[in-house]
Amino acid sequence: MKAYRILAITIAVLVVVQAGAIAWGFFGVTNFINDGGVIDEEFLDCKEDCESIGSADAAFAIHMFFNGLILIPLCSLVLLIVSFFAKVPKGITLAATIFVLVVLQVLVLPALSREVGSGFGALHGINALVLMGIAIMAAQRAAAAMRAPGTAPAAV
Ligand code: HEM
Repeated sequence: MKAYRILAITIAVLVVVQAGAIAWGFFGVTNFINDGGVIDEEFLDCKEDCESIGSADAAFAIHMFFNGLILIPLCSLVLLIVSFFAKVPKGITLAATIFVLVVLQVLVLPALSREVGSGFGALHGINALVLMGIAIMAAQRAAAAMRAPGTAPAAV
């Protein structure tokens, strides 16, 4: 239950980091363009000696790689596995829902936003908030189950 709770809280916190990182990144892009920088195909495809958009480069790396592609998917997968042992009421359903929403967030909505229309980007933002809400709910259920009388402290 403890591991389940910690993972659920970690996912909720990482979603907040995602929101911060993407805002940081886009302010960086705006500043870069206002200072005369050009973002075109050549800029985006650059592999060597590339022009930097400053510290906002780190923000995009955090959002689109470290956090978005590695940490959050990994935490949600481990949470799903842990949920089978944690005995949190509705814990498996909540963990499975989080996992599905993460797949939507990382694979489906970015693809739709690029291929169909940028309006799907709004769903990427909204889905992140729903995901965070469910992660908080999962953490609260684990905490309540840990406090319940007669519950032996369990590592998972
Ligand atoms: C669970 C939380 C989140 C995850 C796992 C996540 C993951 C990702 C990933 C993997 C990408 C790159 C997609 C690709 O290029 O194919 C991306 C792009 C993006 N995300 Fe998120 N994201 C999350 C939350 C958010 C939030 C809260 C916002 C804003 C409110 C946001 C806004 C964006 C935007 C604007 C892009 C496009 C950036 C660009 O193309 O330059 N994301 N996200």
